[in-house]
Amino acid sequence: MDLVLSRAQPSPAERQAVDAVLGPPTTAWEGGARRSGVAGHAAEGGHAARARRHLLLPALHAVQARAGWISQGALNYVCRRLTVPPSEAYGVASFYALFSLVPRPPAVAHVCDDVVCRVKGAKELCAELARTLGPEGSEGPDGGATWLRSPCLGLCEQAPGVLITRAGERPRERALAPATPARLREALQGRTIDDDPAARLPQFGEPGLRLLRRIGRIDPSSLDDYRAHDGFLALRRAIELGPDAVIREVSDSKLLGRGGAAFPTGRKWEAVARAAVRPHYLVCNADESEPGTFKDRVLMEEDPFAVVEGMAIAGYACGCERGFLYVRGEYPLAAARLAAAIDRSRGRGFLGDDVMGQGFRFDIEIRRGAGAYICGEETALFNSIEGLRGEPRNKPPFPTQAGLFGKPTVVNNVETLANVLDIVRDGGPAYAGVGTPGSAGTKLFCVSGHVVRPGLYEVPFGTTLRQLLDRAGGVAGGRRLRAVLLGGAAGTFVTPDEIDVPLTFEGTRAIGASLGSGVVVPLDDTVDLWDLVLRIAAFFRDESCGQCVPCRVGTVRQEEALRRLAAARGRGAAQEELRLLAEVAQAMRDASICGLGHTAAGAVQSALAKLGLAEGGGA
Ligand SMILES: Cc1cc2nc3c(=O)[nH]c(=O)nc-3n(C[C@H](O)[C@H](O)[C@H](O)COP(=O)(O)O)c2cc1C
Ligand code: SF4
Ligand code: FES
Repeated sequence: MDLVLSRAQPSPAERQAVDAVLGPPTTAWEGGARRSGVAGHAAEGGHAARARRHLLLPALHAVQARAGWISQGALNYVCRRLTVPPSEAYGVASFYALFSLVPRPPAVAHVCDDVVCRVKGAKELCAELARTLGPEGSEGPDGGATWLRSPCLGLCEQAPGVLITRAGERPRERALAPATPARLREALQGRTIDDDPAARLPQFGEPGLRLLRRIGRIDPSSLDDYRAHDGFLALRRAIELGPDAVIREVSDSKLLGRGGAAFPTGRKWEAVARAAVRPHYLVCNADESEPGTFKDRVLMEEDPFAVVEGMAIAGYACGCERGFLYVRGEYPLAAARLAAAIDRSRGRGFLGDDVMGQGFRFDIEIRRGAGAYICGEETALFNSIEGLRGEPRNKPPFPTQAGLFGKPTVVNNVETLANVLDIVRDGGPAYAGVGTPGSAGTKLFCVSGHVVRPGLYEVPFGTTLRQLLDRAGGVAGGRRLRAVLLGGAAGTFVTPDEIDVPLTFEGTRAIGASLGSGVVVPLDDTVDLWDLVLRIAAFFRDESCGQCVPCRVGTVRQEEALRRLAAARGRGAAQEELRLLAEVAQAMRDASICGLGHTAAGAVQSALAKLGLAEGGGA
């Protein structure tokens, strides 16, 4: 392909960063040395370079981490190395919030100002940063650090959360939570290295935990420790059973996907296992970006070998030799611990060409997102891995028919895969005996906000919301419960009258709510609900990929109408704004391509309908 590139050249450091991912260039077409008289005149290596397009995102990550931003010269070099047109590479690089296409100071504090952090001091933190470092995005007094507002960072139980990135020869990324101005200042100056925030597990030590039973008890870096706690027994059992029997157990377990859509896992696995087209791929969806969600982060950080084992079982059952683990870019600790777990598992024969000496091949590659909620949508995720903009695809074809690289693909959430270990070990029917007939097993709930003991909870399906809130100590400070945000920004607000709802897929559906990814955010009577609703609307406006009109325009119109309504607070032409909001909500629900558009008005509409916002009852 003839690429028309500008004259901008990469710096030696940028070139080195790209070469560290792609290897040194082998032809003159890729920016390497001219090896023969014809090189430079006749094309060579084009097909090979284009086949590596899936390395575009890792290459951009490498430049961002080295230089702190992606210059035109660096982008040109990546384009040349992978034979990607610059307009496409620009389209990809500009898609992600963690990448910058303009110079940025090396240290950046990404400060979460999303729903939970807002009620836990994030606004005050932002105000303090604006005072000391200057306005958001400015270079600060010495040009060494800046700060940016961020959507949820998955640190909600320790809110307010901040992610600090420091570009350079030895790039660093670290979460800070709960963040205070003093800790943040020190971290930005590089004076102190805080310990990573430890997972909050209020149920630690309780009997009966399944998904959380190893957490806090094992060293997440130790394969031996994992094995001493039943690690890799389920994989061994799966191999004894054989792929068909494993899928039967998963179907019998009635396991429903935990990523939000609640699709039967067994049915998905069976479809891929039976697909005649080869190869088959497995994708573990660890993009966890729904505001209020942090369950997958805790599993990945604290029990990473279980994620590896769950993936190996899924790969074995569905005939996949290659699995991709797509971890959200804001989870550096999870990515590092998973990378170490994958290496150690490979080193001991639990991954690789001959898994456990049983003659099947399976390996895992990690891919890191770069700050885009929409990449959690499964087909957007495929595009992101393939080096395209993370825009959802039309369905059908479904991933089981034509998914990653156009091949049959199983995509499962981290928590879904973690459940597979018990299913294989104890049998599907035993698993289905826990919970309710429509919602089998236990569920992880991310409890944060105005609650005494925020953290990750595991309870059997059917536990009521009231019981869960009681376990978490109830509303902090003895205040009155005003509302609960259930299911995250894509979920709904639930009133105090509704908290006896059983936490099941069917129970929440019956009250017009959804479990989503297991977000539970209780809010007390001091909360400014208008502020939260406007933040949710801004979130969807920002995260819409812009591909289809109902969502691209609808999320903007929704936010505008809400702002007008909020300013009026019960006065003036409220009815007209409410009518417009209802119409926009319906258009997004009915005509959007993907789930983001379908759910973008859910929380807003529930707040308007149930919490009396339009009548001036926001705060
Ligand atoms: C906007 C949007 C964001 C999503 N984000 C995630 C996510 O972060 N993690 C996840 O597992 N599923 C997410 N999903 C659901 C996935 O598309 C898909 O249903 C899921 O990964 C399938 O796995 P499961 O069957 O194990 O739930 C998202 C869906 C939409 C529409
Ligand atoms: S609904 Fe929104 S996020 Fe989904 S494809 Fe359309 S514009 Fe993109
Ligand atoms: S980390 Fe701030 S809302 Fe989740």
